Amino acid sequence: MKLKDVKKSPDEIRALVKKYMVETYERYDFICERAEGMYLYDEKGNGYLDFYGGIAVNSTGSRNPKVVAAAKEQLDDVIHTFNYPYTIPQALLAEKICTTLGFDKIFYQNSGTEANEAMIKMARKYGIENFGPDHYHIISAKDSFHGRSFGSLSATGQPTTACHIGFGPMLPGFTYAEFNNLEAFKAAVTKDTVAIMLEPIQGEGGVNSATPEFLQGIRKLCDEKNLLLLLDEIQTGWCRTGKVMAYEHYGIRPDILSMAKALGGGFPISAICTNDKVAKAFSMGSHGTTYGGNAVACAAALAQVNVMLDDNLAAHAAEVGAYFMEKLKTLPHVKEIRGKGLLVGVVFDGPIGLDVKHGCFDRKLLVTLIGKSTIRMVPPLIATKADCDKAYEILLESVKAVK
Ligand SMILES: Cc1ncc(COP(=O)(O)O)c(C=O)c1O
Repeated sequence: MKLKDVKKSPDEIRALVKKYMVETYERYDFICERAEGMYLYDEKGNGYLDFYGGIAVNSTGSRNPKVVAAAKEQLDDVIHTFNYPYTIPQALLAEKICTTLGFDKIFYQNSGTEANEAMIKMARKYGIENFGPDHYHIISAKDSFHGRSFGSLSATGQPTTACHIGFGPMLPGFTYAEFNNLEAFKAAVTKDTVAIMLEPIQGEGGVNSATPEFLQGIRKLCDEKNLLLLLDEIQTGWCRTGKVMAYEHYGIRPDILSMAKALGGGFPISAICTNDKVAKAFSMGSHGTTYGGNAVACAAALAQVNVMLDDNLAAHAAEVGAYFMEKLKTLPHVKEIRGKGLLVGVVFDGPIGLDVKHGCFDRKLLVTLIGKSTIRMVPPLIATKADCDKAYEILLESVKAVK
């Protein structure tokens, strides 16, 4: 929709949002009328360089032509059926993902948090059915982020921040141990533990990468204690970190993997993948979803996955990300550059993050803020070195302008 078609001014649109919507977001103050590739455009045609990528979603660029074409074609055939009939996009996408990643089975959902709900439910049922009624406990990491619905929120190891506070008790069966502290995880395992749940790189938690010793040690611990390793690759998955999945950096594999964000190229779709043995925990009627596996979302996702793999966006993200991170080290006030590939965190030596973010916005670069001093960037994976140079120059001006 365009403002001229609905005959409204930007201020009228802002006023409608303020009047009618429950707002939980700090908005970038512009009206996005159009998006393409690396840019979002306002109604005057001003372009904003997109280094947040819809939060790690628009990995092949906004409105990638192949994704758009696949979705349009599917719109003319079938939009929605629920999961009673077979649909072609569901089947082809399942084959593509399972064969690419080497898993036996996939289950579709719509969002990251729902994928994690499915992962948690599958692990708990697997534990209870195989080991007894109390065998459903999951250990996750402090500072993790797994989503906003109750299972995922309970797995989210941020009990003292906005995530948990005000929502009453979390679900039973979750404990948190310090990220990158193998001994803490070992100590947290009890006879009732069924799984360990982790992000290979904590995105929302401040772009904290797991060390190889930690993640490999966790895999070994899971094998020794007969625990499932649940990896949440909702943010890190699908080429973002320089590998198709971030776990490949560590030479390990999870027992259940969750994915979302980049998978759909902007369409709401998520999934979990696992092996035949664990998948048996879900049987006829034990889990379900109205929209999960929607035909249009699956058709778009299949095109998106094909572009990401065929264009080798993992290798591109590795190369461009390494170049960008090296350059970012030379910004003033930088304490640390974190991340892998094009999941990048710039940690400043003081609480200047909000001013930097606003300065970037004024100069038409879109980035996100974590806490008070970390700027996180998750641009489309088609970002070039020239895009990174431009983002760097704007960051530099913005940091210099902070009073
Ligand atoms: C690692 C991780 N898990 C889960 C989620 C939740 O995904 P969604 O917002 O699609 O529910 C996010 C979202 O940022 C995430 O980064």
